Amino acid sequence: MNGKVGRKVAGRRLTEKRARAVAGREQRATLARVHPCSCLSGVISLPGDKSISHRLAMLAALAQGESRLRNFLRSEDCLNTVKALEALGAGVVWKGDELRITGGPWKPPKLPLDMGNSGTGMRLLAGLLAARPWRSVLTGDASLCSRPMERIRAPLEMMGARVELQGRGGCAPLAVQGGNLHGVEYRMPMASAQVKSCVLLAGLFAKGHTTVWEPSPTRDHTELILQSMGVPVEVSGLKITLKGYGPAGPELPVREWMVPGDFSAAAFWLVAAGAMPEASVSLPFVGLNQRRSVFLKVLQRMGAQVKVTHIQDPAPEPLGEVVVRGATLRGVEVGGDDIPGMIDELPLLAVTGALACGETVIRDAAELRAKESDRIACMAANLRASGVKVEEAPDGMRVTGGAVKGGVRVPSFGDHRVAMAMAVLAVFAEKPLEIENIGCVRTSYPNFWQHLRSLGVHVELSGGD
Ligand code: S3P
Repeated sequence: MNGKVGRKVAGRRLTEKRARAVAGREQRATLARVHPCSCLSGVISLPGDKSISHRLAMLAALAQGESRLRNFLRSEDCLNTVKALEALGAGVVWKGDELRITGGPWKPPKLPLDMGNSGTGMRLLAGLLAARPWRSVLTGDASLCSRPMERIRAPLEMMGARVELQGRGGCAPLAVQGGNLHGVEYRMPMASAQVKSCVLLAGLFAKGHTTVWEPSPTRDHTELILQSMGVPVEVSGLKITLKGYGPAGPELPVREWMVPGDFSAAAFWLVAAGAMPEASVSLPFVGLNQRRSVFLKVLQRMGAQVKVTHIQDPAPEPLGEVVVRGATLRGVEVGGDDIPGMIDELPLLAVTGALACGETVIRDAAELRAKESDRIACMAANLRASGVKVEEAPDGMRVTGGAVKGGVRVPSFGDHRVAMAMAVLAVFAEKPLEIENIGCVRTSYPNFWQHLRSLGVHVELSGGD
């Protein structure tokens, strides 16, 4: 009897060990084979918002004392920001999914700060480092070190910092020699929340006022979080102004924050269920900042059946529960001021266009070429390889809806949003689709494959040995 129990326990341990080994291998998987599926349903508990996680971590590291960040996004991009803040002197402790950051005076880092794949991490932190009277170096992976950084060098140098772009063609690594900043009035040549935030964060430590003019409205998480921390940030249309506190900076309060579910993560499920008649997915806790969720409106214009219930919450950002039910979608045209508010959803919009009736046209989105990959060229190539008709333009593309053949292996181009958008396309294809080099998904949505499976999709992950 005892022997039997012993064997059972040992057997269970072996199974648990094997299950852990499989889970570990899947975490490191490099190839996903996603099978078509005709009925998708479930509830997704979304990861924390990436943009808000970066900003809260940085601002908490400046507050004197311990801040608690619940539902903080534990993805590679945000973890690189947290590591950089630790190197600058912040105290970091994890309690389950809660990140506790103890802020205080920053010290010069001993080594270059490696921001991995993250443009937000690098550009926002550069703004804060421009306020320090020492030299720091920010670097990243090959993709990040090929993205334009002149866009932050120009305003930071106007404010009095020295920013050296050490990479080829005006790219990172960047060396920032900061201190002694003065406020400026800066007209951004491109619509970029990263550039706006970089300048505003530097402006907190400048003498005098800093004003940023944006050409179109971009996500305003930095403004909202600063306002909710008691920093008077004035927003009047496209003009944002704050009064600097000088080199000592503001006294930021410590408190508990709840990071809302990431709208850009929600978007994958809005399309996967929204374009599949009979499907239904519920997303109980989604960040619904209007400057961030333009894609929701566009999906509704395409015919998606979406029900939004706003949640009353003291958080600085609007929140809601979103339930989507499948419908037949029609093509749409997007451009102009709508683009910055859905910039990260455009690869997915291209996929949605392939699933809708008629043509979908994306214009005024040349910024897509400066993301983790050239998202116009990469999505056009992958859609074409999967049997979709696409015409590429310098600032967007035209996608014709119809049957998706699949049955091919496509690259992710090392770009998390390309990999996840292609996984959504695969669900609707005639034959399974394989996506290579999927490690990049960990930069923003580590549970993506698990969530896709939880909705009923058969996903094989391999190559993680
Ligand atoms: C972000 C802004 C956007 C977006 C990026 C996150 C942010 O970039 O693409 O994923 O957190 O500010 P740009 O502001 O450069 O367009």
